[in-house]
Amino acid sequence: GGATGSHDDVIENPRRRDYLSIGAVAFAGVGVGVVALPLINQMSPSADVLALSTTELDLSAIEPGQAIKASFRKQPLFVRNLTPQEIEAANKVPLSDLRDPQSLAERTKEGKANWLVTLGVCTHLGCVPLGAGEGENKGPFGGYFCPCHGSAYDTAGRIRQGPAPLNLAVPDYSFTSDTTILVG
Ligand code: FES
Repeated sequence: GGATGSHDDVIENPRRRDYLSIGAVAFAGVGVGVVALPLINQMSPSADVLALSTTELDLSAIEPGQAIKASFRKQPLFVRNLTPQEIEAANKVPLSDLRDPQSLAERTKEGKANWLVTLGVCTHLGCVPLGAGEGENKGPFGGYFCPCHGSAYDTAGRIRQGPAPLNLAVPDYSFTSDTTILVG
């Protein structure tokens, strides 16, 4: 309003004041976002930034035989530290027995076969499988188990049973130190 009034009328118009206070709130919100962004780099303001975001993870606290859940580009990310026995067992599985034939070596970095990094997204319909937390059901193949329709993955994240067609996806990542990875 106030288009036909004097300058003073515009300032005193209650509707104009409401607009100004809404603007102030919106500005404060943007300020919080800018401060939070460096602290939580998954908290991206737009899809473009999200698609380019990377996640650095320190793996040093993950014990052999343990798997943890992190997040990458707003999706669950699983990191598993395989024991020597699990590596040996994974390497013994004939590729001809696998629905999506891939060796453990193909799914890990050279000299780092104990570190399995995958998305925590079931390749059937996208549920988050269990097995990347303390006491979670790892399923009959000891890796991950999807509670939605019973897909079971082995310790190399390969599909072994149930409706999922593919192994858990391995994202692009690299080691930036002996126990640090940069995903994305
Ligand atoms: Fe995982 Fe269906 S979504 S088994």
